[in-house]
Amino acid sequence: MGATYFSLLVVAMVLSMTVSQADENVSWGDQTVPHKMGMEKMTRLHFYFHDVVTGDNPTAVRIAEARGTKSSSTMFGALFMIDDPLTEGPDPNSRLVGRAQGFYGHSGKNEMSLIMGMSLLFTANEKFNGSSISVLTRNPITHTDREFAIVGGTGYFQFARGYISGKTYRISGPDAIVEYNCTIIHY
Ligand SMILES: *[C@@H]1O[C@H](CO)[C@@H](O)[C@H](O)[C@H]1NC(C)=O
Ligand SMILES: *[C@@H]1O[C@H](CO)[C@@H](O)[C@H](O)[C@H]1NC(C)=O
Ligand SMILES: *[C@@H]1O[C@H](CO)[C@@H](O)[C@H](O)[C@H]1NC(C)=O
Repeated sequence: MGATYFSLLVVAMVLSMTVSQADENVSWGDQTVPHKMGMEKMTRLHFYFHDVVTGDNPTAVRIAEARGTKSSSTMFGALFMIDDPLTEGPDPNSRLVGRAQGFYGHSGKNEMSLIMGMSLLFTANEKFNGSSISVLTRNPITHTDREFAIVGGTGYFQFARGYISGKTYRISGPDAIVEYNCTIIHY
């Protein structure tokens, strides 16, 4: 009787445990607990990414380059750090919904292409204010339509994975506005 009650209690405790609670008290050694219960959700987000290299207040700055970058037609080896605004509409002055922070490097020798590693932090929606998704992806920027990989997330988007359909909205010199449609699977 006692043992049955105890095991029911343990099962109830384990079932009610969330991942963040489990995180707190992990000591070195084996600790395997059920991970987040319940169905996965899918969230779709639509916004515009503004990459501004020119002007007095650039949001993308060149931080390094290789010896051969200047003679490369694809800027192979150039590395940029970014803190790019994400807005609701294509107009840079439309509502700010988040920021893309990270870096991209020119990784194509023969084709203009980037490797991007960035966190998209969302700030405009109460439900996921402060939550982010992590993007690590190839970005062949001369193609109008591209697809980017979502490899993780924080907060509301813990355990995220998914993809972004990206489309160049406007190019002006090295500056670009890109439309993003995110499909995010998370708990
Ligand atoms: C973690 O361990 C401490 C010390 O044993 C305990 O006081 C605390 O309640 C535990 N936290 C959780 C979330 O289990
Ligand atoms: C998001 O969080 C920040 C910091 O806590 C807060 O200042 C802001 O008002 C919040 N915005 C929304 C839309 O919830
Ligand atoms: C995003 O989705 C909307 C609505 O389905 C569509 O009109 C638009 O073309 C899509 N844009 C991208 C970049 O996939």
